[in-house]
Amino acid sequence: MSGASGTPYAAAVLRALLAAGESVDLVVSRASRLTLLDETGIAFRDAHYRDDLREWLTRGADGKPDTFDVDLDGVRHWSAGDLAAGPSSGSYRAKGMLIVPASTACVAGVALGLSKDLLQRAASVTLKERRPLVVAVRETPLDGVVLRHLVALDDAGARVVPASPAFYAGATHLQDLVDFVAGRVLDAVGVEHRLYRRWRGDLGGARTD
Ligand SMILES: Cc1cc2nc3c(=O)[nH]c(=O)nc-3n(C[C@H](O)[C@H](O)[C@H](O)COP(=O)(O)O)c2cc1C
Repeated sequence: MSGASGTPYAAAVLRALLAAGESVDLVVSRASRLTLLDETGIAFRDAHYRDDLREWLTRGADGKPDTFDVDLDGVRHWSAGDLAAGPSSGSYRAKGMLIVPASTACVAGVALGLSKDLLQRAASVTLKERRPLVVAVRETPLDGVVLRHLVALDDAGARVVPASPAFYAGATHLQDLVDFVAGRVLDAVGVEHRLYRRWRGDLGGARTD
């Protein structure tokens, strides 16, 4: 997670990965702690990450507690400043990496190979190992600098999946819009989920069946 707005997208992706039986190496950038605090009121603590994750992930996008069940056994947390952490090396076992949400600063850092923290280093490792990297960028409008960095990431093999909800899947609640973006992120790496209703080609059908 990097420091763009959109922590509900990260929560939905995390829940779906765990529900799909995937194990997750979680890295929360310093700036992401600010957005988490701003968007949920949770001050994320490395030393108590399980407690904080449980409080966060069991809530809905509307902040309502106990909306979801979550089993955190599959989560391993790494401090963003820990450049000696497992995901810093290509020899560490990983299927791929999802940056959700992705700040434009993180996009720039990965596009330029800066590795300023564990998040950016792990992303560069993911690219060099030719593993799937998904970048759920969240910013608007986009200027030419960011667009060029996004093209560089695409050229390097990353999938750019903007945090850009669609309305054709019958959304009625905030959570539906969040789940659409989370589902498209997971689609990009072929993880099964039931987060949104797929388009089936029947115009208007999404509202009538
Ligand atoms: C409340 C808040 C919301 C932010 N929202 C965004 C955003 O939506 N997109 C973005 O690119 N940056 C956003 N930023 C700015 C980033 O947090 C900032 O560029 C930071 O340096 C990103 O660092 P990181 O990529 O290491 O997490 C936001 C910052 C704050 C405090």
